[in-house]
Amino acid sequence: MQPLYGRAVLEWPLVVAVITVFGTGAFALFCTPSSEAQSEAVVSALSPLWRGLAAVAVLISPFVLLDLTAEMAAVSWWAAIPLLPKVMTDTHVGRVWTGFMPATVLLLASTFLPQRHSCRAIVLLTLTTLLLLFDALSSHATDKGWTTVAVYFVHEIAAGLWLGALLGLWIVARHGQASIRWVEDTASRVSQLAAWCVLVVALTGGYVAYEALGLPIDRLLLSDYGRILIAKVIVFGIVLALGAYNRYWLVPQVRSALTREALLRNVGVESLILLAGVLALASLLANTPPVHHHTGQELSDSIPNLLDTRRCEDNTIARCSTLSIGSGFCSES
Ligand code: HEM
Repeated sequence: MQPLYGRAVLEWPLVVAVITVFGTGAFALFCTPSSEAQSEAVVSALSPLWRGLAAVAVLISPFVLLDLTAEMAAVSWWAAIPLLPKVMTDTHVGRVWTGFMPATVLLLASTFLPQRHSCRAIVLLTLTTLLLLFDALSSHATDKGWTTVAVYFVHEIAAGLWLGALLGLWIVARHGQASIRWVEDTASRVSQLAAWCVLVVALTGGYVAYEALGLPIDRLLLSDYGRILIAKVIVFGIVLALGAYNRYWLVPQVRSALTREALLRNVGVESLILLAGVLALASLLANTPPVHHHTGQELSDSIPNLLDTRRCEDNTIARCSTLSIGSGFCSES
């Protein structure tokens, strides 16, 4: 089956919004030097971004649910509207989205609440963690069981922490009137965090990829899913090379003004590649049916109470069971 390009384009800004608010929220709370005045300045510099991204999440998520419904029933968006209540009550993915949409509204509201700055970051972090959990619970990982869902969730958390730390550093250094001392201290914290996140992202990404494709190399090379994954890993490798240069060459010399400038420029480029390249490919991957290695174990490995128990024609339950709603439509070929 072909990748769902339209859905991927729709979901990409949503993934960007949730991951970025999560990551920059964590950055504001844990990555910056801990004086009260400085952390308030960081939260003030990031708040406009949080508001814009939360608004994007609120606006887009109903359309994603509508598109899912239209795909399941194989009808147009217009014809899918009356089916929405049934999808939201009778299908696993609909129930997840029933929780997802109010959480995006709360996210937007909490960016405007007049609350102490660190409290705002805590609320945003909590809500985006919940949204990432919902995302994992509606992903391909549910076809493989709780362990895969947990690993998928950790993959998203690590990706968010990495991206958020880079972007947070860049935004506050460029637009938050940060002192030179702040940039120096924060750059080395971000560099350490990034190294751990890269390790976790690679390990968890590898595991989720293995669960989707298995070991045979032809599944990686010949399927759409495998090729998109290869593209994602190549772009990841480019960011990794840039990050390694920053960590081992620029960060140790961050006290020099020229090096600091080069470091911030690279951090901006890394953030941009992650947002526009890696997350776009992640979104496309999440909307491309994997070539499951069907073992007959599929039914027992998947999460029965999260799935609607409909089988595909080839007797597997995979995506078919999570997505179909009585039209007989099956997204797994
Ligand atoms: C070795 C590198 C990586 C590998 C092997 C990898 C692999 C994967 C796989 C297999 C999925 C599951 C797609 C699905 O079937 O639903 C996934 C999802 C995802 N990955 Fe990665 N990944 C890697 C690096 C990254 C990086 C660097 C980021 C971002 C900083 C990232 C962000 C994400 C996100 C956000 C999702 C969830 C997408 C969604 O639910 O819409 N990954 N990744």
